[in-house]
Amino acid sequence: MAEDYLWYAGIPFPAMLYKMEDIKAAHEQFVVKDEDIITVTYPKSGTNWMIEILCLILSKGDPEWIHSVPIWERSPWIEAELGSKIIRDMKEGPRLLTSHLPIQLFPKSFLTSKAKVIYIIRNPKDVLVSGYYFYRHSKLMKNPESLQQFYGWFIQGNVPYGSWFAHVLGWMSMRERENVLVLSYEALKKDTRSTVKRICQFLGKKLEPEELDLVLENSSFQAMKENKMSNYSLSDRSYFPTGVEMIRRGMVGDWKNHLTVTQAEAFDKIFREKLAGIPPELLPCD
Ligand code: A3P
Repeated sequence: MAEDYLWYAGIPFPAMLYKMEDIKAAHEQFVVKDEDIITVTYPKSGTNWMIEILCLILSKGDPEWIHSVPIWERSPWIEAELGSKIIRDMKEGPRLLTSHLPIQLFPKSFLTSKAKVIYIIRNPKDVLVSGYYFYRHSKLMKNPESLQQFYGWFIQGNVPYGSWFAHVLGWMSMRERENVLVLSYEALKKDTRSTVKRICQFLGKKLEPEELDLVLENSSFQAMKENKMSNYSLSDRSYFPTGVEMIRRGMVGDWKNHLTVTQAEAFDKIFREKLAGIPPELLPCD
């Protein structure tokens, strides 16, 4: 069935998008190049926003590229069936790549490369709510009957790409590496300009103030919502028969509009238990 998972190394992947051999190849054979820039996230953490920003940094704010090529082709997913095909046909030059893989399945070659990874974390309660609205009518998983049901699955890790907690714990262990930048969706929302400057510094790219203005303008929530190359209105209808609202609310704390106090408190308790070893200031959950 379309909604079935493909289980690989204990992680559920949407069977419609992934093949066992592509995930295995991504982990064992994929050759990461030193010039690669890789956006890594647990889904619904701001992946596409980061991709848009990176595309615009590379083009110095010129929107021609983001207005003419679908976002999934500009920064293909390493482990996905479609992504691996696109990557094979990519021309020489610095590559933008994307991945939702947990660290234990990420390309092994990364560990000895100078490629740069930007890992985005987001308040998991917002990730949960965003995921519910994204998956509920999709063919990517068994559709939840209610937010309460999805909440249970999310906590168990019975959602695409498995446990949020395990994903974040795994990637946080990489945060001291020189070529890994961990950023939060919340920081990006709060002060987009400074955070984009931090990204430029990490990538060794210098933008003039007016180029930075263009990056911010063209990657804004509204601009992305209107850009058909970035809002997934061109995506395959077989994944989302009733359409998809990829650029949905773009808020910090939208969970407060959806989770009950009891649900939020129970979530926070699990969060504190599972992520006890990570300094709380690094992880948004309020
Ligand atoms: P919401 O569903 O909470 O609105 P991903 O790209 O990892 O799937 O993440 C999707 C989330 O990022 C969605 O969150 C979406 O609205 C938000 N998002 C996408 N583009 C954004 C932008 N330019 N500014 C703020 N949030 C954005």
